[in-house]
Amino acid sequence: MHLIVLAAILIGSLAEAAVLRDEQRVGGGNQSAFQWGPCDPSIVTNPSISCSFFEIPLDYHDLFAGYGRIAVAKANATAERFGTLFVNPGGPGQSGLAVLDAFGPMVLALTGGHYDVVSWDPRGVGPLTIPGDIQCFSSIEEYNTFWNGTIELTGIEMTGNFTDPEDIKALLSQAPIMQKKYEELGKRCLQQPSGQYLQYVGTAATVRDMVAMADALDGPNAPINYAGISYGTILGSWFINRRVVLDGVINPAFLATEETITFWPKLLVDADKVYDAFVTGCALSGPDGCAIATEGQSPADVDATIQGLIKRAHDAARKNSSIPVTSTDIRLELFGAMYFPDEWAPLANVSYPQAVAAVDAESGSNDLRARAMRRGLRKRQANQVPTYNGPAISCSDSVNSRGTTMTDVFKEIISSSRTSSHIFSSIWPDMFQYCPFWPVRAVERYQGPFNKTLANKVLIISNTYDPVTPVSGARALAELLGDDGVLVLQDGFGCINQIAFAYFVNGTIPADNNTLCQVDTDYEPFAGVDTEAILAALSF
Ligand SMILES: *[C@@H]1O[C@H](CO)[C@@H](O)[C@H](O)[C@H]1NC(C)=O
Ligand SMILES: *[C@@H]1O[C@H](CO)[C@@H](O)[C@H](O)[C@H]1NC(C)=O
Ligand SMILES: *[C@@H]1O[C@H](CO)[C@@H](O)[C@H](O)[C@H]1NC(C)=O
Ligand SMILES: *[C@@H]1O[C@H](CO)[C@@H](O)[C@H](O)[C@H]1NC(C)=O
Ligand SMILES: *[C@@H]1O[C@H](CO)[C@@H](O)[C@H](O)[C@H]1NC(C)=O
Ligand SMILES: *[C@@H]1O[C@H](CO)[C@@H](O)[C@H](O)[C@H]1NC(C)=O
Ligand SMILES: *[C@@H]1O[C@H](CO)[C@@H](O)[C@H](O)[C@H]1NC(C)=O
Ligand SMILES: *[C@@H]1O[C@H](CO)[C@@H](O)[C@H](O)[C@H]1NC(C)=O
Ligand SMILES: *[C@@H]1O[C@H](CO)[C@@H](O)[C@H](O)[C@H]1NC(C)=O
Repeated sequence: MHLIVLAAILIGSLAEAAVLRDEQRVGGGNQSAFQWGPCDPSIVTNPSISCSFFEIPLDYHDLFAGYGRIAVAKANATAERFGTLFVNPGGPGQSGLAVLDAFGPMVLALTGGHYDVVSWDPRGVGPLTIPGDIQCFSSIEEYNTFWNGTIELTGIEMTGNFTDPEDIKALLSQAPIMQKKYEELGKRCLQQPSGQYLQYVGTAATVRDMVAMADALDGPNAPINYAGISYGTILGSWFINRRVVLDGVINPAFLATEETITFWPKLLVDADKVYDAFVTGCALSGPDGCAIATEGQSPADVDATIQGLIKRAHDAARKNSSIPVTSTDIRLELFGAMYFPDEWAPLANVSYPQAVAAVDAESGSNDLRARAMRRGLRKRQANQVPTYNGPAISCSDSVNSRGTTMTDVFKEIISSSRTSSHIFSSIWPDMFQYCPFWPVRAVERYQGPFNKTLANKVLIISNTYDPVTPVSGARALAELLGDDGVLVLQDGFGCINQIAFAYFVNGTIPADNNTLCQVDTDYEPFAGVDTEAILAALSF
């Protein structure tokens, strides 16, 4: 879950790059700032990728704060070189090295081999970059003991839209405990070795790092090319100095000007639409293509089946709060798959039956069997010490706390289960919820303006069915950019955008604002059911 949200945020922050680039010039085509060689094989296995470190000041406005380094990876251009294409790992908190290892060859192919494709582990990420992974606990035992008996380990129990008042009572009664825990967590993060770096982690510094690398690789006046990638789907954020494409856009003003408790529900406003598309596709495909459906079921029937499973897990947890598969696990499993239509059929065919078997076992008190079934599901509890890279980066970027309490946070979750996403608003933990209690903010944050006049038009691409980067974010950005923004809507589920590709390879931009891309008609999320059939069957 965290991966996707983060990707979206970094996309939004490209507006920052556009602004920061104009004021910032570091280096001057200094190729010797990079020493390319083989990569650490435990992270990058593709031998066609080269790696280097790149030195960075911890604080661009105070060089006396000292220096760090970022771990950088590069897939060399294979055709006439147009320049460097920076690929953002997303998250925040994801490894760019791992992303380049997985997707570098694909991006190279998609761009005709004309760019050196470069990615990096940003500040606050990975074992090689300094400052790297943000740790708040020394061992998994310390972690488990600290969070023992709290919703941090079990998730929030609820059904429907917090339909049962008992669940509201139970959640609100956790507020004082969780507030104390989150404040104490901040102290522990500061006490760990990575604690000294918390203020140097964040998106503004990461944007400056990218600009510094671009200056060293391509010279200070060369265009910066930028692409965002997320999990098999290219988010397709193209950033070309005077020409920019933003895809999967979050309204950049949210994070810069609002507290994160109001930010998260806004990201989820389209999530239930995607869920509706999922159950619709499942019902249309029937039991042959989707194991959740039985013969002749409607989308509402499939939804009722899923809600029934969530309810049974919820009821089992009420009897025994230590059960291995909770209703949150099922929501997480669904949420993780929503982003990727390729995962819809495997979710229905494989993970869903596992969840059913686990919940059956729990309901019949066969705990060992439930534990065994849990193994296939997404892991809520960690087997190794979790890092706090995502919270460190997003909370560094966040506005100062305005006295928000944990009770406020929980009330917002309850209310957004009614106004935003009934099924996904209650997913816990969520990286944004740490921010009101996080102990530091970055030495530099970007808080606008986002409507700076640009030399050329920005292409903004938004998928109309995207669980966390709703089209409203793209519209808001288009409005902020005014005449500088051209909005393209894609009425499908995350396929590669032809317009962006043509723009990237040929430099062509659509003449019309608000272009609507055609659905990718031959793509079938479920056997025998294409996206057009799903869209036609949806009632909105
Ligand atoms: C180029 O980068 C290297 C390594 O960071 C540095 O030692 C050198 O001074 C730089 N040269 C120039 C001209 O900036
Ligand atoms: C990629 O290019 C760099 C020079 O920029 C070179 O040092 C490196 O060996 C090349 N990597 C591969 C795998 O060819
Ligand atoms: C969690 O608390 C329970 C009792 O409340 C205790 O039995 C168990 O050992 C604790 N687990 C950890 C990891 O501290
Ligand atoms: C799901 O199962 C159905 C039949 O049981 C099959 O037709 C379909 O290909 C399966 N899909 C996946 C991704 O396994
Ligand atoms: C509750 O679940 C825990 C962990 O799965 C199990 O060890 C315990 O025996 C269960 N308690 C009851 C009363 O069934
Ligand atoms: C909760 O959901 C139910 C059923 O979907 C609906 O009737 C009810 O109005 C919702 N409650 C609130 C407070 O939104
Ligand atoms: C940007 O927005 C601000 C505040 O909304 C406004 O005062 C300013 O005129 C805008 N600038 C441009 C270039 O549109
Ligand atoms: C594109 O559309 C947005 C609203 O969707 C509008 O604010 C903007 O001015 C338009 N841009 C152009 C170049 O017409
Ligand atoms: C780029 O332009 C050429 C010539 O107009 C055209 O044949 C080609 O299809 C275009 N490529 C893309 C990706 O649009």
